[in-house]
Amino acid sequence: MSHTIVIFGASGDLTTRKLIPALYRLWVKRRLPADTKVLGVSRTEFSHDAWRKSLSESTAKFAGKDFDEQEWQSFAKSVFYMQGDIGKSEDFQRLSDVLDEIEQGSEGTRVFYLSTTPRLYATAVANLGAAGLADESNGPRRIVIEKPFGYDAATARQLNDDLHQVFAENQVYRIDHYLGKETVQNLFVLRFANSIFEPIWNRQYVDHVQITVAEELAVGRRGDYYDTSGILRDMFQNHLLQLMMITAMEAPARMSADLIRDEKAKVLQSVRPITAEMVKQDTIRGQYEGYRQEKGVATDSQTATFAALKLHVDNWRWSNVPFYLRSGKALSCRTTQIVIQFREPPQPLFSDQSSQSPGANRLVIQVQPAEGIQLHFHTKVPDAGMNLRMTDLDFSFQREFSFALPDAYQRLLLDVLNGDASLFARSDEVELSWDIIDPVIEAWKNQTEPNLDIYPPALWGPAESMQWMEEQGREWFDVC
Ligand code: BG6
Repeated sequence: MSHTIVIFGASGDLTTRKLIPALYRLWVKRRLPADTKVLGVSRTEFSHDAWRKSLSESTAKFAGKDFDEQEWQSFAKSVFYMQGDIGKSEDFQRLSDVLDEIEQGSEGTRVFYLSTTPRLYATAVANLGAAGLADESNGPRRIVIEKPFGYDAATARQLNDDLHQVFAENQVYRIDHYLGKETVQNLFVLRFANSIFEPIWNRQYVDHVQITVAEELAVGRRGDYYDTSGILRDMFQNHLLQLMMITAMEAPARMSADLIRDEKAKVLQSVRPITAEMVKQDTIRGQYEGYRQEKGVATDSQTATFAALKLHVDNWRWSNVPFYLRSGKALSCRTTQIVIQFREPPQPLFSDQSSQSPGANRLVIQVQPAEGIQLHFHTKVPDAGMNLRMTDLDFSFQREFSFALPDAYQRLLLDVLNGDASLFARSDEVELSWDIIDPVIEAWKNQTEPNLDIYPPALWGPAESMQWMEEQGREWFDVC
């Protein structure tokens, strides 16, 4: 059985920066299924050799010390190129012939990876269908779609409809690269391979949950895209809600793609719908100082580069436990963390003797870059009366395992080749996520509250976000 990955958008940034280096590393680790071929398609003219040469340079740069000339040469024998235009249906007939030629008649799996501008997704899907390339009589046919999946709920539903005209849902792999991160997969393990967390993972013991994805970088060269997208579309609809689903979901009966995704979807179904009135109290928006001077950004832009949302998961496990989701550009540091903040003990026996406010236990799951888990608890400061201090049990991936964590795309590409959709978003997840985010985007457009707060770069976003938490008797866990 052969495996062929067709990458549309072969000359694009994602292909050179992520996809090819990930495939190359899988090759070096001998993880790719036998007889895996890569066929790049884009409008640029390249011979097979010219594309291989250009990829060898970019892969040497992006794979760094993992690059080995000899390994690359043997991998590159399975790399091919076809000049083609997604808008031209005749090019898909040609693609079909090229695939037959490079596969030399062997039956097998074909994966079509759309790494193009999202404007072309529907056309690519229709043309694949018309050329018979989604037909599975000669082996599995899969399609991979990059984010953004739609611009809002309506366009996401339309794209799902377009896909389902040609592909069955089990042929569709919607990428959210956060799901490929080792530490995100480890959340399943932390929760469902250990029994000590489950009894306290609920409203009786948890005060609230914080999910923070902070970025130090500003929008850089992506001003054009970002100004029409903003933080909610760029980060919340996908990455933050994915992290929330895995944190809040029930254990699936088995680790199978559909059972996992059933449980994830139930979390979103339980999220209390956000009304325009709630948006005033339950959201904060900000924009970093200097954003309007970025290339491609409107000088009077109202686009938020920071947001904090308070969501309520109205089910038996999480009733009255707020989930605070926060993300922003140009913040203090790059960190993604999930904080499970436990309740205070019922009687504060030591607080009046303590020199500092003791606070409550918390479990901090560091998704990146200091991948690990810390459990914070109180200890007595020795030889100091009854003074308490917060300390922690600290697990670090780097200390525990000597090797570097693989890039998310390695795992995700391998899963597509092997037909495991567990770490990909299903159509209902994507639509439900938009249903949560859309009303906030709409309210921000139509009403002045909450104000768009301008924040200085290199901090934790607008001061209003700290105040907002304080007013609720809580505080952000701001540690880099
Ligand atoms: C992308 C967003 O999906 O995720 C970017 O479009 C963001 O704006 C990036 O920078 C963050 O990914 P990571 O893996 O660096 O946390």
